[in-house]
Amino acid sequence: MDGGIVTTEIPQRVDVGIVGGGIIGLAVAHELAERGREVVILDDGARPGNATHASAGMIAPVAEADVELPGLCEFRQWSHQLYPEFVARVEERAGVDCSLRRDGTLLVALDRDHAAELERLRDIMRDQGFEPQPLGVKDVLDMEPGLSARVVGGLLLEQDDHIDQRVFMQALRIAVERGRGRVFDDVVVERVAPDGVVQGHHTRGDGRFELECEQVVVAAGSWSNVGLDSPGAELPLRPVRGQVVRLHAPALLRRVVRTPDVYMVPHAAGELVLGASVEEQGFDAQPTAGAVFDLLRHAWRALPGIYDLPLKEISVGFRPVSRDHLPVIGRLQGRVCVATGHFRNGILLAPGTARLLGQLLCDAVQHALLGHFEPQRFAQPVEKTTNG
Ligand code: GLY
Repeated sequence: MDGGIVTTEIPQRVDVGIVGGGIIGLAVAHELAERGREVVILDDGARPGNATHASAGMIAPVAEADVELPGLCEFRQWSHQLYPEFVARVEERAGVDCSLRRDGTLLVALDRDHAAELERLRDIMRDQGFEPQPLGVKDVLDMEPGLSARVVGGLLLEQDDHIDQRVFMQALRIAVERGRGRVFDDVVVERVAPDGVVQGHHTRGDGRFELECEQVVVAAGSWSNVGLDSPGAELPLRPVRGQVVRLHAPALLRRVVRTPDVYMVPHAAGELVLGASVEEQGFDAQPTAGAVFDLLRHAWRALPGIYDLPLKEISVGFRPVSRDHLPVIGRLQGRVCVATGHFRNGILLAPGTARLLGQLLCDAVQHALLGHFEPQRFAQPVEKTTNG
Protein backbone atom coordinates (compact mmCIF):
# COMPACT_ATOMS: atom_id res chain seq x y z
CA MET A 1 0.00 0.00 0.00
CA ASP A 2 1.90 3.04 -1.23
CA GLY A 3 2.02 5.83 1.34
CA GLY A 4 -0.20 3.78 3.66
CA ILE A 5 -0.06 3.63 7.41
CA VAL A 6 1.16 0.28 8.64
CA THR A 7 1.29 0.80 12.39
CA THR A 8 -0.63 -2.40 13.06
CA GLU A 9 2.23 -4.49 11.67
CA ILE A 10 4.59 -3.74 14.54
CA PRO A 11 3.55 -5.70 17.60
CA GLN A 12 2.98 -3.91 20.88
CA ARG A 13 5.33 -6.13 22.85
CA VAL A 14 8.36 -8.25 22.08
CA ASP A 15 11.16 -10.05 23.92
CA VAL A 16 13.95 -8.05 22.25
CA GLY A 17 13.67 -4.93 20.11
CA ILE A 18 16.73 -4.28 17.96
CA VAL A 19 17.32 -0.79 16.65
CA GLY A 20 19.36 -1.04 13.44
CA GLY A 21 19.29 -3.57 10.61
CA GLY A 22 22.95 -3.57 9.56
CA ILE A 23 25.23 -6.55 9.98
CA ILE A 24 25.45 -6.15 13.77
CA GLY A 25 21.70 -5.80 14.35
CA LEU A 26 20.94 -8.73 12.05
CA ALA A 27 23.61 -10.97 13.57
CA VAL A 28 22.40 -10.23 17.11
CA ALA A 29 18.79 -10.83 16.03
CA HIS A 30 19.73 -14.16 14.46
CA GLU A 31 21.59 -15.31 17.57
CA LEU A 32 18.69 -14.36 19.85
CA ALA A 33 16.06 -15.88 17.55
CA GLU A 34 18.07 -19.11 17.48
CA ARG A 35 17.99 -19.04 21.27
CA GLY A 36 14.21 -18.85 21.21
CA ARG A 37 13.69 -15.12 21.71
CA GLU A 38 11.07 -13.22 19.76
CA VAL A 39 12.85 -10.30 18.10
CA VAL A 40 11.83 -7.23 16.13
CA ILE A 41 14.34 -5.25 14.06
CA LEU A 42 13.58 -1.58 13.49
CA ASP A 43 15.52 0.14 10.74
CA ASP A 44 15.31 3.16 8.47
CA GLY A 45 16.27 1.42 5.24
CA ALA A 46 16.14 4.67 3.27
CA ARG A 47 18.88 6.44 5.23
CA PRO A 48 22.07 6.85 3.15
CA GLY A 49 25.42 5.71 4.56
CA ASN A 50 24.67 2.20 5.89
CA ALA A 51 28.20 0.96 6.62
CA THR A 52 27.40 -2.70 5.93
CA HIS A 53 25.85 -1.95 2.55
CA ALA A 54 28.93 0.02 1.45
CA SER A 55 31.44 -2.45 2.87
CA ALA A 56 33.56 -4.84 0.80
CA GLY A 57 32.86 -7.84 3.06
CA MET A 58 36.40 -8.46 4.29
CA ILE A 59 36.82 -10.68 7.32
CA ALA A 60 40.39 -9.67 7.94
CA PRO A 61 41.85 -10.32 11.40
CA VAL A 62 45.35 -10.15 9.90
CA ALA A 63 45.27 -7.48 7.16
CA GLU A 64 43.54 -5.03 9.50
CA ALA A 65 45.67 -5.93 12.53
CA ASP A 66 47.46 -2.59 12.43
CA VAL A 67 45.81 -1.21 15.55
CA GLU A 68 46.66 -2.70 18.93
CA LEU A 69 44.00 -1.79 21.47
CA PRO A 70 43.03 -3.59 24.70
CA GLY A 71 40.91 -6.65 23.99
CA LEU A 72 40.47 -5.89 20.30
CA CYS A 73 42.99 -8.38 18.89
CA GLU A 74 41.52 -11.16 21.04
CA PHE A 75 37.97 -10.17 20.01
CA ARG A 76 38.90 -10.15 16.31
CA GLN A 77 40.47 -13.59 16.49
CA TRP A 78 37.60 -15.07 18.51
CA SER A 79 34.92 -13.63 16.21
CA HIS A 80 36.89 -14.91 13.21
CA GLN A 81 36.92 -18.42 14.68
CA LEU A 82 33.14 -18.24 15.14
CA TYR A 83 32.55 -17.26 11.50
CA PRO A 84 32.36 -20.58 9.63
CA GLU A 85 29.86 -22.10 12.03
CA PHE A 86 27.85 -18.88 12.26
CA VAL A 87 27.58 -18.63 8.46
CA ALA A 88 26.73 -22.34 8.17
CA ARG A 89 23.82 -21.93 10.60
CA VAL A 90 22.53 -18.89 8.67
CA GLU A 91 22.88 -20.73 5.35
CA GLU A 92 21.05 -23.75 6.67
CA ARG A 93 18.21 -21.70 8.14
CA ALA A 94 17.88 -19.38 5.12
CA GLY A 95 18.70 -21.83 2.34
CA VAL A 96 21.12 -19.29 0.83
CA ASP A 97 24.78 -19.77 -0.11
CA CYS A 98 26.62 -16.79 1.43
CA SER A 99 29.89 -17.37 -0.52
CA LEU A 100 32.25 -17.34 2.46
CA ARG A 101 35.70 -17.42 0.82
CA ARG A 102 38.65 -18.69 2.86
CA ASP A 103 41.55 -17.99 0.52
CA GLY A 104 43.45 -15.30 2.37
CA THR A 105 44.61 -11.80 1.53
CA LEU A 106 47.53 -11.05 -0.76
CA LEU A 107 49.24 -7.88 0.45
CA VAL A 108 51.50 -6.48 -2.28
CA ALA A 109 54.14 -3.76 -2.53
CA LEU A 110 54.47 -1.70 -5.71
CA ASP A 111 57.50 0.39 -4.69
CA ARG A 112 60.08 0.83 -1.96
CA ASP A 113 57.76 2.81 0.34
CA HIS A 114 55.19 0.03 0.10
CA ALA A 115 57.88 -2.57 0.80
CA ALA A 116 58.91 -0.69 3.98
CA GLU A 117 55.25 -0.49 5.03
CA LEU A 118 54.82 -4.25 4.49
CA GLU A 119 57.83 -4.86 6.76
CA ARG A 120 56.24 -2.67 9.46
CA LEU A 121 52.89 -4.47 9.12
CA ARG A 122 54.58 -7.87 9.19
CA ASP A 123 56.19 -7.03 12.56
CA ILE A 124 52.80 -6.03 13.98
CA MET A 125 51.14 -9.18 12.63
CA ARG A 126 53.85 -11.35 14.13
CA ASP A 127 53.47 -9.57 17.48
CA GLN A 128 49.80 -10.60 17.33
CA GLY A 129 50.67 -14.25 16.73
CA PHE A 130 50.19 -14.38 12.93
CA GLU A 131 52.82 -15.67 10.51
CA PRO A 132 52.44 -13.84 7.18
CA GLN A 133 54.20 -15.66 4.38
CA PRO A 134 56.73 -13.49 2.46
CA LEU A 135 56.47 -13.82 -1.34
CA GLY A 136 58.82 -12.87 -4.16
CA VAL A 137 57.68 -11.15 -7.35
CA LYS A 138 57.26 -14.41 -9.27
CA ASP A 139 55.16 -15.98 -6.47
CA VAL A 140 52.88 -12.94 -6.41
CA LEU A 141 52.41 -12.86 -10.18
CA ASP A 142 51.86 -16.62 -10.33
CA MET A 143 49.11 -16.25 -7.77
CA GLU A 144 47.53 -13.19 -9.40
CA PRO A 145 48.62 -12.89 -13.06
CA GLY A 146 46.53 -9.73 -13.56
CA LEU A 147 48.75 -7.69 -11.21
CA SER A 148 51.11 -5.07 -12.59
CA ALA A 149 54.78 -5.69 -13.41
CA ARG A 150 55.45 -2.92 -10.82
CA VAL A 151 55.07 -5.50 -8.02
CA VAL A 152 58.24 -5.70 -5.90
CA GLY A 153 57.07 -8.26 -3.31
CA GLY A 154 54.21 -9.41 -1.14
CA LEU A 155 52.86 -11.16 1.92
CA LEU A 156 50.24 -13.88 1.95
CA LEU A 157 47.90 -13.57 4.92
CA GLU A 158 46.35 -17.02 4.88
CA GLN A 159 43.90 -16.58 7.76
CA ASP A 160 41.88 -13.75 6.17
CA ASP A 161 38.49 -14.51 4.62
CA HIS A 162 35.75 -12.58 2.87
CA ILE A 163 32.07 -12.80 2.18
CA ASP A 164 29.61 -11.08 -0.12
CA GLN A 165 28.13 -9.14 2.76
CA ARG A 166 25.04 -8.02 0.82
CA VAL A 167 24.10 -11.65 0.18
CA PHE A 168 24.95 -12.42 3.81
CA MET A 169 22.63 -9.63 5.00
CA GLN A 170 19.80 -11.00 2.88
CA ALA A 171 20.43 -14.48 4.22
CA LEU A 172 20.50 -13.21 7.81
CA ARG A 173 17.22 -11.44 7.26
CA ILE A 174 15.59 -14.56 5.85
CA ALA A 175 17.00 -16.63 8.73
CA VAL A 176 15.67 -14.15 11.30
CA GLU A 177 12.24 -14.08 9.66
CA ARG A 178 12.12 -17.89 9.49
CA GLY A 179 12.92 -17.94 13.18
CA ARG A 180 11.14 -15.85 15.80
CA GLY A 181 11.93 -12.52 14.19
CA ARG A 182 10.42 -9.73 12.16
CA VAL A 183 12.24 -6.99 10.29
CA PHE A 184 10.76 -3.54 9.68
CA ASP A 185 12.96 -1.43 7.42
CA ASP A 186 10.68 1.54 6.96
CA VAL A 187 10.70 3.02 10.44
CA VAL A 188 12.49 5.85 12.21
CA VAL A 189 13.15 5.35 15.91
CA GLU A 190 12.76 8.57 17.87
CA ARG A 191 13.04 7.44 21.46
CA VAL A 192 14.54 4.50 23.33
CA ALA A 193 13.63 4.72 27.00
CA PRO A 194 15.51 2.93 29.80
CA ASP A 195 12.30 1.00 30.64
CA GLY A 196 12.41 -0.66 27.19
CA VAL A 197 9.75 1.40 25.42
CA VAL A 198 10.74 2.29 21.85
CA GLN A 199 8.77 4.94 19.96
CA GLY A 200 8.95 6.23 16.42
CA HIS A 201 7.19 6.60 13.11
CA HIS A 202 6.96 4.95 9.72
CA THR A 203 8.80 6.52 6.80
CA ARG A 204 5.86 5.79 4.52
CA GLY A 205 2.74 7.48 5.76
CA ASP A 206 2.51 9.16 9.13
CA GLY A 207 1.80 6.15 11.32
CA ARG A 208 3.42 6.07 14.72
CA PHE A 209 4.36 3.06 16.80
CA GLU A 210 5.22 2.21 20.36
CA LEU A 211 6.94 -1.08 21.15
CA GLU A 212 7.37 -2.39 24.67
CA CYS A 213 10.51 -4.54 24.86
CA GLU A 214 11.72 -6.84 27.57
CA GLN A 215 15.19 -5.84 26.33
CA VAL A 216 16.39 -3.39 23.68
CA VAL A 217 19.65 -3.63 21.71
CA VAL A 218 20.67 -0.44 19.96
CA ALA A 219 22.86 -1.45 17.02
CA ALA A 220 22.34 1.51 14.75
CA GLY A 221 26.00 2.09 13.86
CA SER A 222 26.92 5.77 13.74
CA TRP A 223 23.32 6.71 14.59
CA SER A 224 23.19 4.75 17.83
CA ASN A 225 22.70 7.87 19.95
CA VAL A 226 19.46 8.77 18.21
CA GLY A 227 16.65 8.57 20.72
CA LEU A 228 18.66 7.35 23.71
CA ASP A 229 16.60 8.89 26.38
CA SER A 230 18.11 9.76 29.72
CA PRO A 231 20.77 12.08 31.10
CA GLY A 232 24.34 10.87 30.55
CA ALA A 233 23.33 8.18 28.05
CA GLU A 234 24.94 9.83 25.03
CA LEU A 235 27.90 7.87 23.65
CA PRO A 236 30.97 9.59 22.18
CA LEU A 237 30.41 8.17 18.69
CA ARG A 238 31.24 9.67 15.32
CA PRO A 239 30.92 8.56 11.69
CA VAL A 240 34.12 8.00 9.69
CA ARG A 241 33.21 8.14 6.02
CA GLY A 242 34.36 5.43 3.65
CA GLN A 243 33.87 5.77 -0.10
CA VAL A 244 33.86 2.56 -2.12
CA VAL A 245 33.80 1.89 -5.88
CA ARG A 246 32.25 -1.22 -7.44
CA LEU A 247 33.27 -2.35 -10.93
CA HIS A 248 31.86 -5.08 -13.13
CA ALA A 249 34.84 -7.47 -13.21
CA PRO A 250 34.47 -11.10 -14.10
CA ALA A 251 37.53 -13.00 -12.77
CA LEU A 252 40.23 -10.32 -12.74
CA LEU A 253 41.43 -11.42 -9.29
CA ARG A 254 41.20 -14.77 -7.51
CA ARG A 255 41.42 -13.46 -3.95
CA VAL A 256 41.48 -10.24 -1.95
CA VAL A 257 44.50 -8.12 -2.91
CA ARG A 258 45.65 -5.08 -0.98
CA THR A 259 48.41 -2.54 -1.29
CA PRO A 260 49.05 -0.03 1.51
CA ASP A 261 46.81 2.37 -0.48
CA VAL A 262 43.79 0.34 -1.59
CA TYR A 263 42.01 -2.99 -1.22
CA MET A 264 40.40 -4.91 -4.07
CA VAL A 265 37.82 -7.56 -3.24
CA PRO A 266 36.41 -9.87 -5.95
CA HIS A 267 32.85 -11.01 -5.30
CA ALA A 268 31.39 -14.15 -6.83
CA ALA A 269 28.66 -12.09 -8.47
CA GLY A 270 31.26 -10.68 -10.92
CA GLU A 271 32.07 -7.44 -9.19
CA LEU A 272 35.32 -5.99 -7.92
CA VAL A 273 35.04 -3.77 -4.85
CA LEU A 274 37.68 -1.06 -4.39
CA GLY A 275 38.03 0.61 -1.01
CA ALA A 276 38.14 2.74 0.83
CA SER A 277 38.60 6.33 1.84
CA VAL A 278 38.83 7.15 5.57
CA GLU A 279 37.42 10.63 6.09
CA GLU A 280 36.21 12.79 8.97
CA GLN A 281 33.34 14.53 7.22
CA GLY A 282 30.44 13.98 9.61
CA PHE A 283 27.28 12.61 8.01
CA ASP A 284 27.97 14.04 4.54
CA ALA A 285 26.86 11.21 2.23
CA GLN A 286 27.94 12.90 -1.01
CA PRO A 287 30.66 10.94 -2.86
CA THR A 288 33.57 13.08 -4.03
CA ALA A 289 35.62 13.08 -7.23
CA GLY A 290 38.88 13.17 -5.27
CA ALA A 291 38.24 10.03 -3.21
CA VAL A 292 36.97 8.09 -6.24
CA PHE A 293 39.94 9.28 -8.31
CA ASP A 294 42.38 8.13 -5.60
CA LEU A 295 40.77 4.68 -5.32
CA LEU A 296 40.79 4.16 -9.09
CA ARG A 297 44.36 5.45 -9.46
CA HIS A 298 45.74 3.26 -6.66
CA ALA A 299 43.83 0.22 -7.92
CA TRP A 300 44.91 0.84 -11.52
CA ARG A 301 48.60 0.98 -10.47
CA ALA A 302 48.21 -2.50 -8.99
CA LEU A 303 45.77 -3.97 -11.49
CA PRO A 304 45.98 -2.16 -14.85
CA GLY A 305 43.16 -4.25 -16.33
CA ILE A 306 40.55 -2.28 -14.37
CA TYR A 307 40.92 0.60 -16.85
CA ASP A 308 38.29 -0.74 -19.23
CA LEU A 309 35.85 -2.11 -16.70
CA PRO A 310 32.31 -0.76 -16.49
CA LEU A 311 31.66 1.30 -13.37
CA LYS A 312 28.83 -0.22 -11.36
CA GLU A 313 28.40 1.81 -8.20
CA ILE A 314 29.95 4.39 -5.91
CA SER A 315 28.83 4.05 -2.32
CA VAL A 316 29.41 5.82 0.95
CA GLY A 317 29.36 4.24 4.40
CA PHE A 318 29.66 5.80 7.84
CA ARG A 319 31.85 3.58 10.01
CA PRO A 320 30.85 4.02 13.66
CA VAL A 321 33.83 5.01 15.82
CA SER A 322 33.93 5.61 19.54
CA ARG A 323 36.24 8.07 21.27
CA ASP A 324 38.74 5.37 22.26
CA HIS A 325 38.32 3.44 18.98
CA LEU A 326 37.05 0.34 20.77
CA PRO A 327 33.64 -1.22 20.17
CA VAL A 328 30.84 -0.27 22.55
CA ILE A 329 28.99 -3.41 23.59
CA GLY A 330 26.98 -4.15 26.71
CA ARG A 331 24.33 -2.74 28.98
CA LEU A 332 23.88 1.01 28.79
CA GLN A 333 21.11 1.41 31.34
CA GLY A 334 17.90 -0.27 32.47
CA ARG A 335 16.66 -2.58 29.72
CA VAL A 336 18.84 -0.98 27.05
CA CYS A 337 22.03 -2.54 25.65
CA VAL A 338 24.16 -1.21 22.80
CA ALA A 339 26.38 -2.80 20.15
CA THR A 340 28.20 -0.25 18.06
CA GLY A 341 31.62 1.38 17.48
CA HIS A 342 32.96 -1.50 15.35
CA PHE A 343 34.79 0.98 13.08
CA ARG A 344 36.62 -0.95 10.31
CA ASN A 345 35.71 -4.37 11.68
CA GLY A 346 31.92 -4.56 11.56
CA ILE A 347 31.75 -7.59 9.28
CA LEU A 348 34.52 -9.43 11.14
CA LEU A 349 33.10 -8.74 14.59
CA ALA A 350 29.45 -9.60 13.86
CA PRO A 351 29.43 -13.24 15.10
CA GLY A 352 31.45 -12.31 18.20
CA THR A 353 29.13 -9.42 19.01
CA ALA A 354 26.10 -11.67 18.54
CA ARG A 355 27.61 -14.28 20.86
CA LEU A 356 28.45 -11.68 23.56
CA LEU A 357 24.91 -10.32 23.54
CA GLY A 358 23.36 -13.77 23.37
CA GLN A 359 25.24 -14.73 26.53
CA LEU A 360 24.40 -11.45 28.25
CA LEU A 361 20.69 -11.41 27.45
CA CYS A 362 19.85 -15.12 27.51
CA ASP A 363 22.27 -16.52 30.13
CA ALA A 364 23.06 -13.36 32.17
CA VAL A 365 26.73 -14.14 31.48
CA GLN A 366 29.12 -11.21 31.20
CA HIS A 367 31.97 -12.44 28.96
CA ALA A 368 35.39 -11.12 30.05
CA LEU A 369 35.78 -9.23 26.73
CA LEU A 370 32.85 -7.00 27.66
CA GLY A 371 35.08 -5.47 30.33
CA HIS A 372 36.94 -3.69 27.50
CA PHE A 373 33.87 -2.62 25.57
CA GLU A 374 31.25 -1.71 28.15
CA PRO A 375 29.36 1.53 27.42
CA GLN A 376 29.61 2.71 31.02
CA ARG A 377 33.28 3.61 30.49
CA PHE A 378 32.03 6.85 28.92
CA ALA A 379 29.43 7.63 31.59
CA GLN A 380 29.25 11.26 32.57
CA PRO A 381 28.27 12.14 36.12
CA VAL A 382 24.73 13.54 36.02
CA GLU A 383 24.77 17.18 37.16
CA LYS A 384 22.68 17.79 40.25
CA THR A 385 20.22 20.68 39.99
CA THR A 386 20.14 23.08 42.92
CA ASN A 387 17.27 25.20 44.13
CA GLY A 388 18.10 28.88 43.80
N1 GLY B 1 37.31 -2.73 6.76
C1 GLY B 1 37.48 -1.97 5.61
C2 GLY B 1 37.18 -0.54 5.76
O1 GLY B 1 36.74 -0.11 6.80
O2 GLY B 1 37.40 0.19 4.83
